[in-house]
Amino acid sequence: MNDIAPALGIDLGTTFSVVAQVNRGGMPVTLPNVEGTPTTPSVVFFDGDRIIVGAIAREAMATDPELVVQLVKRRIGSEWIFEYRGVTYHAEHISALIVKKLLQDSQRLTGSVNQAAVTVPAYFNDTMRAATRHAAEMAGVEVLGLLSEPTAAAVAFGYDKRPVELRGIVVDLGGGTFDVTVLEFDHNDLIVKGTGGDAYLGGANFDKVLFDYFVDQFDQSQRIDVRDPESLSIEEFTQVSQDWLLRANRAKHDLSVRDRTVVQLQAAGLSTRLEVSRESFEKMSAVMLDEFSEKITDVVHTAGFSMKDFGVVLGVGGATRMPMVQDRIRSLFGTAPDTSVRPDEAVGLGAALYGARCQMEDGHGLMIEREAHDFIENMKVTDVSAHSLGISVFEGEGGRRRMEVLLGKNTPLPDVKSNTFFTMRAGDTQIVVPVLEGDSSVPDECLRIGTVVIDGLPANRPAHQPVTVTMSYDRDGILKVTARDDSSEKSVSTVIERTGQLQTASSDLAAQAVKNAIVL
Ligand SMILES: Nc1ncnc2c1ncn2[C@@H]1O[C@H](COP(=O)(O)OP(=O)(O)OP(=O)(O)O)[C@@H](O)[C@H]1O
Ligand SMILES: [Mg+2]
Repeated sequence: MNDIAPALGIDLGTTFSVVAQVNRGGMPVTLPNVEGTPTTPSVVFFDGDRIIVGAIAREAMATDPELVVQLVKRRIGSEWIFEYRGVTYHAEHISALIVKKLLQDSQRLTGSVNQAAVTVPAYFNDTMRAATRHAAEMAGVEVLGLLSEPTAAAVAFGYDKRPVELRGIVVDLGGGTFDVTVLEFDHNDLIVKGTGGDAYLGGANFDKVLFDYFVDQFDQSQRIDVRDPESLSIEEFTQVSQDWLLRANRAKHDLSVRDRTVVQLQAAGLSTRLEVSRESFEKMSAVMLDEFSEKITDVVHTAGFSMKDFGVVLGVGGATRMPMVQDRIRSLFGTAPDTSVRPDEAVGLGAALYGARCQMEDGHGLMIEREAHDFIENMKVTDVSAHSLGISVFEGEGGRRRMEVLLGKNTPLPDVKSNTFFTMRAGDTQIVVPVLEGDSSVPDECLRIGTVVIDGLPANRPAHQPVTVTMSYDRDGILKVTARDDSSEKSVSTVIERTGQLQTASSDLAAQAVKNAIVL
């Protein structure tokens, strides 16, 4: 078989996205976008007939905020919608537009490569993973695999440093999500031991803290609360808030290298000059930093380790550049974060290596240098699930419902587990199996992620019939559930009906709009 070009690695970030590929010399490198930068803002601007993605879209936040969509990754798999010119877009359609731009720009450099490994936060559940995969497919990508972002960063680090035996922890504080992953390098194997995080903690929260501070300070000096509808109309407020959020973001970056910064705020025809010190920014951020520490210790302990057990702490994600985050890492682990692989590119680079690995698994040889080829071919990556999955069962006759876990948190992927349960009533012609995700034994405290239904059973079945439920996780962390009625041997073997899955006519229209979109 002829050698083929290496696949892409796509890091679809909350605030920035990255595309990378292993070059002929065997090094993973980022592929710059048309604008010439290695990272592309994950921002979409609906500009009439054209859809603009990236830096220009980000700038349009200040001038046309109602036509700009950002931070969409936080909404993936949810009911959130954005309507434009009669088309209803869900988050996965917006993500698809971002991927379309990434793919298009990368193909200027690669020709026609459309295979890719795509990364997702470790914390993403089955629904979010499936939605991400679908988004990439809508954009024309052939998805070879999904990989958790911190695991991808560890792949990039392992490839660069080639540790023989090393236990590490990845602390990935990005724009919108926070992931912590404990792992071990053992010769060619990278084995994830545990993962966790917070889907709602990232750099954007720090922007928001500064923004709230701006609002208070403006109110103090100008006696105008910009949030009060009597002071500003909704349109004015939207404009002011997008503009101030950009200023907050700039101030945050400034405070990573300076101990004070100056911000000029304008609203309702008034202007205020505000000085912010690093010290006061750190005080405002104390609650988030405490959450950050808590999550880390939680993941370390759940994985069965202590804070002293790590030979390396990988600092990943742009927000780990903040001195207060670095200080916190130092005080938790007694060592500074390793940022030898660039924090905002590491995930994309690792994804490219993983994509190349997937191609080799599929039997392809790649057009890359021999030694690199051998290393990637022998590399083995074992990820884990971030959530416990199970089904809702009754505890005995007339008993309470209980979450019965089949695949526990931190299960190495892929995996399959089965369990037999008993029906309650005689004559039931249908069995409904609610699929739950969560760490509580109380079903109401878990997330119902879907349902599997066995229909058309004979009407004369007695009570207490065995039903075998099998759950399998594929390597991408995507779930399949089958339920079999053991007496009739009737089974339903479908990928679960996911809560929040898009199957409506309006989503077909949006998929078509994505396909036809002229993306710049
Ligand atoms: N020098 C810096 N100082 C402070 N914050 C920074 C700096 N550089 C980048 N950031 C912040 O890092 C965040 C972006 O990081 P990154 O690109 O890793 O996130 P992402 O991949 O978009 O998000 P996620 O991984 O959560 O989906 C932004 O909030 C950005 O403001
Ligand atoms: Mg990221």
